[in-house]
Amino acid sequence: MREFFNDYVQSLETYIMFRIKETVTKITPELISKNRAPIALSMGAPTANPPQKAIDDLKSVLDEKGVHIYSTPKGEKYLREAIAKRMKTRFNVELNPDEEIFSLIGSKEGLANFIRILINPSTIDSEKEIIWVPDPGYASYKEMIKVSGGKAYSIPLLPEDKFMPNLDRVYEKFINEGLNPKKIKALMINYPNNPLGATATKEYLQHVVEFCKKHHILLISDAAYVDMYFKPELKPMSILEIDGAKDIAVEFFSFSKPYAMTGWRLGWICGNSEAVKIFGKLKSTLDSGLFKALQKACAEILNSVEGDKYIENANKLFKENQEIFVKGLREELGWGEFNVPDATFYLWLPIPPRYKSAVEFTDDLMHKSGIIAVPGDAFGEYGKRYFRASIVCPKEQILEVIDRMKKDGFTFN
Ligand SMILES: Cc1ncc(COP(=O)(O)O)c(C=O)c1O
Repeated sequence: MREFFNDYVQSLETYIMFRIKETVTKITPELISKNRAPIALSMGAPTANPPQKAIDDLKSVLDEKGVHIYSTPKGEKYLREAIAKRMKTRFNVELNPDEEIFSLIGSKEGLANFIRILINPSTIDSEKEIIWVPDPGYASYKEMIKVSGGKAYSIPLLPEDKFMPNLDRVYEKFINEGLNPKKIKALMINYPNNPLGATATKEYLQHVVEFCKKHHILLISDAAYVDMYFKPELKPMSILEIDGAKDIAVEFFSFSKPYAMTGWRLGWICGNSEAVKIFGKLKSTLDSGLFKALQKACAEILNSVEGDKYIENANKLFKENQEIFVKGLREELGWGEFNVPDATFYLWLPIPPRYKSAVEFTDDLMHKSGIIAVPGDAFGEYGKRYFRASIVCPKEQILEVIDRMKKDGFTFN
């Protein structure tokens, strides 16, 4: 059977988060029997319900006429207009809802399909077109590029650069490695970053836009976490706020994280109109748009007081969780040096030195304590001695995590 499938998927693994989920399901009875029922610090999926307004709006439109038939892949006009309004009020970015915005079945779908329209696939390594990706970065990027017949090239995000690498230096390194700059199709950025929680300054975003323009590289900004931040003065920006960015960039947004709607599957792409138009052609052959009831509820929440309050409160709770977890790690478990992010609901933590690998550590943590975290390797080669904890669960569970780690001997040294 295997031989029927194309070369690009031959080495593809089930996505790490679902692999972890399958293992957890298998070992749950054993964990429960030893009073270590699983606590998930793995999925980047807020566990609270979405805003009540969105749930009520969704229910109320279910009886409306015409709501159950096909929408359009682009998204209903009222959704695109609501997105344009949000982009204006949140970022002061002007967008034409007919030409510069397109709906997505979640940003993961959008990113994967956008990559498909960029890459001319090849099975020969030296011929493969290249997309630069942040490393550590969202685990799906590399796989999306691989199954599209391209190759991902890691841009190292290092603490000494404050996670904002100088791209001219990366370019130099790329050339010195004997790689062909003509093969570079696009550069991906993701601020605030998964898994680091790192944010970018305006100056850095300007540098990224300038770099892409200079080398004629398409810029893909993944803004899935743009609304999850803890300091008003460090409010993350849209790349489209940078002068001239629209000439070269598209940006991906998601309803998943800010409104705890990971299961609803809604997002949008916006930016360069030509890129959006070409993307739209592919989308029109692949899917038939989103359930209109979801579009209505999402259009309503986007510019509502309830929506903004919800985000504000969720960020407050994530910050509280972060403080509790950081205090526990430092004061009770001996974790010393690590970065405490100003954004996202992730913590990126070094593994204790006695472990040979991140997988060995997260496996031990899962089997002994029922605490489910993600090994850093999943996020790239620069993640090898780290693990990611997603602190989206209730506060009591964070306290329970610290307690279990202490009882079960998970100190740093
Ligand atoms: C950086 C990043 N981008 C995109 C996504 C996909 O989100 P969704 O498909 O739910 O919009 C995720 C999900 O974890 C993510 O971490």
